[in-house]
Amino acid sequence: MSFVITTPLYYVNDKPHLGSIYTTLICDSIARYKRLSGEDVIFITGVDEHGLKIQRTAMEKGVNPKSHCDEISNIFLQNWKLWDITHNKFVRTSSKNHEFIVSEFYKRVKESNDIYMGVQKGWYCVGCEEFKDNPDNSPTYKCPIHQKNLEWKNEENLFFRLSKYQSQIEDLISDTSFIQPKERRNEIINFVSKGLKDFSISRTNVSWGIPVPDKQNHTFYVWFDALLGYVSAICLNTKNSSLDESIKNGWPADIHLIGKDILRFHAVYWPAMLISAGMDVPKKVFGHGFLTREGKKMGKSLGNVLDPNLLLSKYGKEAVRWYLLKDISLGSDGDFQNKRFVDIINNDLANTIGNLLNRTSSMSRKWFDGRVPSNENSNEDNTLALYSKEAVDNYIKHFNSYELDLAANIILNFAINTNLYLNDKQPWKLIKDENNICLVSNIIYNVLESTRIIGLLLLPLLPDLSTKIDLQLGSLYNKEIPWNIQLNWGKLNYNSVLPEPTPIIEKLEYE
Ligand code: MSP
Repeated sequence: MSFVITTPLYYVNDKPHLGSIYTTLICDSIARYKRLSGEDVIFITGVDEHGLKIQRTAMEKGVNPKSHCDEISNIFLQNWKLWDITHNKFVRTSSKNHEFIVSEFYKRVKESNDIYMGVQKGWYCVGCEEFKDNPDNSPTYKCPIHQKNLEWKNEENLFFRLSKYQSQIEDLISDTSFIQPKERRNEIINFVSKGLKDFSISRTNVSWGIPVPDKQNHTFYVWFDALLGYVSAICLNTKNSSLDESIKNGWPADIHLIGKDILRFHAVYWPAMLISAGMDVPKKVFGHGFLTREGKKMGKSLGNVLDPNLLLSKYGKEAVRWYLLKDISLGSDGDFQNKRFVDIINNDLANTIGNLLNRTSSMSRKWFDGRVPSNENSNEDNTLALYSKEAVDNYIKHFNSYELDLAANIILNFAINTNLYLNDKQPWKLIKDENNICLVSNIIYNVLESTRIIGLLLLPLLPDLSTKIDLQLGSLYNKEIPWNIQLNWGKLNYNSVLPEPTPIIEKLEYE
């Protein structure tokens, strides 16, 4: 059985922004962690290419929607390469394979008697591609997310009988493991308790969409189409794209990781659609928070959008990953502050972890002939061994509950404690007396062994930095041996050669 994790399928109205990078980095870390833990992982990402928003963006550029989508989808793919994202599937909702899945799914939902023709009236936000509830019936009402005027719509659409699934959705969301975090779950419980209303799943004025097979001039509503991208991704590149093929190859998803603004679609509409089609619902929907910049919402009108690629070229991906994964608790909103960013990278990575490794490796090289000393004649000082065991256990517990920030902090605290141990033992004083050689060799071994485990724990979060730490310890990490086994204390080989230490990360300067 595979572990299936998804990012949202990003709109191709623009290139990736910090929000899309954020979600993708979280999924990438979880996917890496699951692979290291021995699971077979299907990590899905991709793009949401249909709908009015994309149709208009292409029109404004004066190009046809298809070539616009080709261009932006490519930019997404190039970006994921730059950021070293380890996705297994990249789905495009404009692909034939996806169109096929949408039609098959529609047929199943229709057979369940869940589709009917009705009239859709209401205020619509093109940015959200969503009708808004009770917006004051005023044409000047702005979408709170996009700050743009809503548009009045009144047209014949096909509807999906969401109301039929009221009790099944209530049961589903009453399961505490389905929606995370807790606060988000309460919002959804509150929304559902007001009574679910059927929603329209086709449009007559949007040409850039998948045609509804049995209704001329109707294309599928972009959300009905896009959510199915998660299913079509699984059978991408298989011989026959069909719902059964996706089910055979991994559906349902273990976790949809999304922003809090699109939770309703994933935790209410989507499961009801799946139940109607006789398919399993996803096991978990996790709604993460929003990123702001220096305390302010990021937006084009405010002119304060942070270009993620600028961050990447200036600071490198490890620094950005650490800040976003360690400093923001998954589920809460987070603020990007330049000063805090610089401080965290310098304190955590350069000083606490980097210096610990460099100074210990230097001492070991100087006193033990360029090699790792023995811990055999030890006086049984197992302080760090015990600490390491506890840190590894807690880290695993946190990662398994998607508390990546807490897992990252476990690593940092492990490094802080190892530094304290070193300062407390003061091997540089002990070494002055020849009789202390066994004692010193044991201390240095303990600290080097801790840095090896710290480096290994960093692997899902900061893969490059982890590799650099491993290189400095003489390349001990072995892909053939399960990662969890290598996290056990005492795997550092006595006598292995330590290369010349170099800083694992450059210190950053304030702007
Ligand atoms: N196309 C839909 C998703 C369809 S999934 C079948 C969509 N796309 S999006 O590109 O607009 O948004 C993608 C994700 O980016 C959403 O999860 C959204 O919450 C997230 N973010 C957008 N701005 C954000 C921040 N400022 N901070 C964090 N994430 C934010 O919605």
